[in-house]
Amino acid sequence: MGKPQRIGILTAGGDCPGINAAIRGVGKTAIVRHGMEVIGISSGFSGLINLDVHPLTESALSGILTLGGTILGTSREKPFKKSGNLGVDKPKIIKKNYRELGLDCLVCIGGNGTQKTANLLAEEGLNVVGIPKTIDNDVFGTDFTFGFDSALTIATDAIDRLHTTANSHKRIMVIEVMGHNAGWLTLYAGLAGGGDVILLPELGLDIKAVNRYLLDRAYKKKPYSIVVVAEGIEKPKDYLSAADYIAAMIESGTKIETRKTILGYIQRGGSPSPMDRILATRFGSHAVDLIASGNFGRMVVNVGGLTSSIPLKDVAGKTRLVPTDHSLINKARSLDICMGDVCDV
Ligand code: F6P
Repeated sequence: MGKPQRIGILTAGGDCPGINAAIRGVGKTAIVRHGMEVIGISSGFSGLINLDVHPLTESALSGILTLGGTILGTSREKPFKKSGNLGVDKPKIIKKNYRELGLDCLVCIGGNGTQKTANLLAEEGLNVVGIPKTIDNDVFGTDFTFGFDSALTIATDAIDRLHTTANSHKRIMVIEVMGHNAGWLTLYAGLAGGGDVILLPELGLDIKAVNRYLLDRAYKKKPYSIVVVAEGIEKPKDYLSAADYIAAMIESGTKIETRKTILGYIQRGGSPSPMDRILATRFGSHAVDLIASGNFGRMVVNVGGLTSSIPLKDVAGKTRLVPTDHSLINKARSLDICMGDVCDV
């Protein structure tokens, strides 16, 4: 293969702040630095199946750095999933369309599911480069994904606001934070927002110990408590949400008036933080440098503050959970924050 001339780009999975900054990083580097042509693919892998594509010119990339969401649209289409495909061979259609579009490489911006699909397409012989994004920060192999810092800012601001209303009413406030099965966002927002109890999916939960801890705070004349809970904690099926479950268990166990807030999609919306804009720009530009040097089948990562890349096959099918001995968990315990597993008074 000669020098890559034409690349496709798609965004898949849940959106997050910073995706457009990454698209811009890819597009500008490809067009300006390497003289490539960039094809925008709409709605994730669906756009590659339905040939919903359009050229991304320099002008289309102007003014998108600060925009939330994704100008390309996204979907959770999983072309390799057998069920629901009704006899349609989606990977075959994707391969055919990739060739018909004359693509030299496909850039896949997405979380764990997207990188898994990207790896399968690479195994099918396509040139693919992955860029990790998600507010959950749970993509294997990278210290940070863009989207995380913006969501952290939003979640922290929400917790800050709960302090004053909790104090006025002398209540316990339970706030549920996104993160899928990982507790990164909850851990960071819980610490940044001054949570008294932080509940992560990665740690065990002893609700009686949590209640003893909260009662002890009340006994010590602390007027209110903030409980930050990850959406992914284990809960009985009859509760709709983690916040419902934890608030109910706390109110019945402590008899202290308890309220819940589910932050939800607010965490994924809006303009990216400056750190996410920078990380996304780095990732986007680095992805094109990989393509220009013929390094395919890789995902861009940030490790120890440096941008590099790792093979997609090392990422596929894995999730990066919070290690139970993470330094921030230990720091929280040192500050007498209850982490839900052992918080006896
Ligand atoms: O992966 C990002 C995320 O927002 C998770 O935190 C959450 O569990 C999930 O996506 C929600 O998915 P959907 O957009 O399909 O409702």
